[in-house]
Amino acid sequence: MKSDVYTKHPDPKKPANLDDYDRVYRSFDWKQARKEIDWFDGVTMNAAYNAIDRHTQTWRKNKIALYWEDEDGSTKQYTFEQLSLLSNKMGNILKDFGVTRGQRVFIFLPRVPELYISFLGILKIGAIAGTLFSAFQEQALADRLGNSDAEVVITNTELKKRIDKVRSKLPALKHIITIDSPDFATSMEHASDELHIAHMDPDEYAFMLYTSGTTGKPKGVVHVHRAILQEHMTAKWVLDLRDDDTYWCTADPGWVTGIAYEILGSWSCGVTAVVFAGRFDPKRWYQLLDKYKVTVWYTAPTAIRMLMAAGSALVKEFDLSALRHMCSVGEPLNPEAITWAIKTFDKPFHDTWWQTETGAISIANFPCLDIKIGSMGKPVPGIHAAIVDDTGRECKPNEEGHIAIKPKWPSMMHTIWRRPQKYKSYFEHGWYISGDRGMRDADGYFWFIGRADDVIKTAGERVGPFEVESALVAHPGVVEAGVIGKPDAMRGEIIKAFVVLTESQKSKVKSQKSADAFKEELSQYVKKHLAGHSYPREIEFIDKLPKTRSGKIMRRILKAKEMGLPIGDTSTLEEY
Ligand code: WT7
Repeated sequence: MKSDVYTKHPDPKKPANLDDYDRVYRSFDWKQARKEIDWFDGVTMNAAYNAIDRHTQTWRKNKIALYWEDEDGSTKQYTFEQLSLLSNKMGNILKDFGVTRGQRVFIFLPRVPELYISFLGILKIGAIAGTLFSAFQEQALADRLGNSDAEVVITNTELKKRIDKVRSKLPALKHIITIDSPDFATSMEHASDELHIAHMDPDEYAFMLYTSGTTGKPKGVVHVHRAILQEHMTAKWVLDLRDDDTYWCTADPGWVTGIAYEILGSWSCGVTAVVFAGRFDPKRWYQLLDKYKVTVWYTAPTAIRMLMAAGSALVKEFDLSALRHMCSVGEPLNPEAITWAIKTFDKPFHDTWWQTETGAISIANFPCLDIKIGSMGKPVPGIHAAIVDDTGRECKPNEEGHIAIKPKWPSMMHTIWRRPQKYKSYFEHGWYISGDRGMRDADGYFWFIGRADDVIKTAGERVGPFEVESALVAHPGVVEAGVIGKPDAMRGEIIKAFVVLTESQKSKVKSQKSADAFKEELSQYVKKHLAGHSYPREIEFIDKLPKTRSGKIMRRILKAKEMGLPIGDTSTLEEY
């Protein structure tokens, strides 16, 4: 691959945590990472204990673990010891509700401190934590809480209303804890801050996250306590976290990045973290970088492109001289964004590749390696990543194939909740097949090409077309719908829906104005019932959807038509 190269000039006085990639990659074995983690009696562990409590036995006890700032500017801060004690209290409250090892406790909260405290408390008592993005609406909530049979949900008064709407469909749900209620305040006050932290087998479940594929309902990807090993090592090697850093990860714990690199891996490294609970806003983001003197920043391409659009002049209003390392994840990071960063911040973003299923960074641009601009970098030591063809054979350099990883690795998902067949389907010919297409060049750098399936990535968020189609079809005016990701310069992709209307609805949308109004109504309908972030920004009415003879919607054809590309092989099509 031809590309521009950003050459690193490492400072010998301040070497990166991983300063000789090739040597470490050749010799590293995950057994060597064991000593980075605290074990109970040598065999059992707890990921939350490693993230927080172990630091209270060291000088970090009174170190700030969390600087928290809300949209309105109010702030709070917590030391490692405070997070340890508060999450102990949370663990005790859950125990009082009868929560036991292995039960599912879901968190449905915006990025408030209680979210982090709850997550840690759940893991500490050996229960399984699930996170729900705060934009989810009733359908998304019913799917996830229903499939997981969650016994407890931790939420706030406002978000609880959405759960109440679907509560009748959730027989397993016994308790809803509202963190802004007087009851909760009293419980926190009275709960003991001493807790026996559950000693977990490394392969016991710790947390789960729902994510989307092409078909079917969202899948519950389950991770184990052992994952902390890889989350820790990658936070150290890729994010290059050190004790004097102030680190800001902009992700939400509703998604895996917010769990692995805002809670587990980053705190395991003992870093001081910043959490901003507010919405994206370029000026505010620069203010935060300046105010907290952020040194390491982990964010996503859509945000970077939006910062680019806000212009470089704005950046100059702030003192960002503390920033020393910047990383990105979630969707392709376009070369322009890196070149802009070099011009504007005097340093590049380091692209990292991984997935909800891989549990931690798997391929990355390392601080000690030159960056081939546009590439995702090289595999993490201990990870055997490859490009393979349909038969599992490794491809030649620059040949396109599936991005695959050799099982197992410490942060690999351990199951898909209640769907063992689905879990099995990820593994073929001795490889984990990621669902992404890519290639590797002769120097061993990986390049992303695209998804192998119909999964949509909009503003870095993974959306399954089937969920959106189902939400649209629930509207009485809709017969059927086909949903695709349409390339978008800012958001990577936007959700576009092709919708077949009922005859009576068709007669109501004859004029342009009424058609536009109905499109808006459908967008709002999805927003209100499914999720605030996964609604179609573009809708087109269509007479008939292209389908296979067995009745499957051919989204590939909708996409080709949308992009003016050749439609390709249509021999299996119904009639088109
Ligand atoms: C999918 C996984 C893991 C953190 C958040 C995403 C896409 C991820 C990159 C990258 C191009 C990327 C892939 C992947 N993706 N990182 N650096 N370049 N695409 O987790 O929601 O499970 O999504 O995001 O398509 O399969 P996720």
